[in-house]
Amino acid sequence: MVTAIIVGAGHRALQYARYARTAPDRMRIVGVADPDPARRKAVAEEYGLTEEQCFESAAALAARGRLADAVINGTMDRDHVPTTIPLLEQGYDVLLEKPFATSPRELELLDAAVRRTGRRVMICHVLRYAPFYAEIKQRVLAGEIGDLMDIQTAEHVSYHHYSMGYVRGKWRREDLGGSSFLMAKCCHDLDLIAWLKSGVRPARVASFGSRSYFCREKAPAGSGEHCLLDCPLEKDCLYSVRKLHLDHPDRWTYYVWPHLDHRSGVTLAEKEAVLRDPANPYSRCVWKLDNDLLDRQSVMVEFSDGTLATHQMIGGTSAPMRKIHLIGTTGEIEGTFEENRFRIRHMDPSPGREFREEWVELADSDDHSGARGGHGGGDERLAADFAALVLGEPGSVSRTLFEDSVTGHRIGFLADQAVREERVIAF
Ligand SMILES: NC(=O)c1ccc[n+]([C@@H]2O[C@H](COP(=O)([O-])OP(=O)(O)OC[C@H]3O[C@@H](n4cnc5c(N)ncnc54)[C@H](O)[C@@H]3O)[C@@H](O)[C@H]2O)c1
Repeated sequence: MVTAIIVGAGHRALQYARYARTAPDRMRIVGVADPDPARRKAVAEEYGLTEEQCFESAAALAARGRLADAVINGTMDRDHVPTTIPLLEQGYDVLLEKPFATSPRELELLDAAVRRTGRRVMICHVLRYAPFYAEIKQRVLAGEIGDLMDIQTAEHVSYHHYSMGYVRGKWRREDLGGSSFLMAKCCHDLDLIAWLKSGVRPARVASFGSRSYFCREKAPAGSGEHCLLDCPLEKDCLYSVRKLHLDHPDRWTYYVWPHLDHRSGVTLAEKEAVLRDPANPYSRCVWKLDNDLLDRQSVMVEFSDGTLATHQMIGGTSAPMRKIHLIGTTGEIEGTFEENRFRIRHMDPSPGREFREEWVELADSDDHSGARGGHGGGDERLAADFAALVLGEPGSVSRTLFEDSVTGHRIGFLADQAVREERVIAF
């Protein structure tokens, strides 16, 4: 049984902590640290914690020495490194959200602290734990497509997700959210690339990107500043907050209405009032905000063994989609995460044939809805693997040790640097 303390009792940490409810013989929540009294109270009620088990910050918790085996750190990007290092120094193992650092310097600081303290840090690269990617990794390890020559991945972030998080939301500016669009959203895909090439060093990174749609020049002529207050085009606009959020009042609620999310019986009128507040970025026209993230980016990595990897990221698509296509010396794997199945092609030189194709349907086609913690069931499996790590048990194929996560994050930071400096960067 692992004892764990929640640090940063937001949406993400609570997802992982839920494992203590589904597997109470494996994990027990014995504390919470969060400056927000309402969040501390909600966790204390859910897990039966006393006043003494509630702390106002990660620093206040660290000042008390080691009170449990581990912490689940779900603070925001910028808080990851400053909150984690003192906890490592007190002897906690840490489950830490991604991106685990907001700059190469922070990455090096945390890397040094992990080495110095010898504690175990697992990064929440939940996609590795989704059956889709775990099975692909197993097939690659089993040599089913020979040696990898080329990795192509893509993430399409849907129009309602991109505008919610990266145009109107808390990740809309790097100085607010702490991360670029690539690091906030696609450090998962870069991690998958690094994981598939585990043990092979990247050699160089190139990248192009821009913010070419969610900017003032693209605003429809005659549009207002606030959808529900002054926009004559609101009725016909795809990005109207009425259409994106009020007509879907249960979608992204914890981001759009964070202060109403913990209450039951919230009315639509209350939700609308929040979106009519001109000071709220969710009231604003998507083309007229202060957002500064890119809305598209292409990343290329050349590994030292010649393998090429490319990742395409685009915000504002009709459907959310993650795609992967692996090309090996004897075959290919190709699939779309949301379909929860992929195909393998094997070269077949027999007369009249070109290749054999097999579809792999994931039996455990659970949950893209979030019922098991989201990310195709990855959230819950990751929490289970973290408990196993702390207990010293053997890990799953997906286990995300800190050392493995560093490569994917380094690729991301170098790709952003490549866009800024318009050059290819050596790893
Ligand atoms: N793994 C994934 O796929 C995935 C998906 C979405 C978000 N995330 C990441 O999860 C992280 C958390 O996102 P969220 O939306 O749950 O955040 P959130 O803002 O809801 O929660 C963060 C919490 O940390 C608390 N906090 C701030 N400073 C603190 C401190 N010094 N000590 C303790 N607590 C502190 C805040 O009060 C807040 O309650 C982010 O880094 C985000 O990028 C990961």
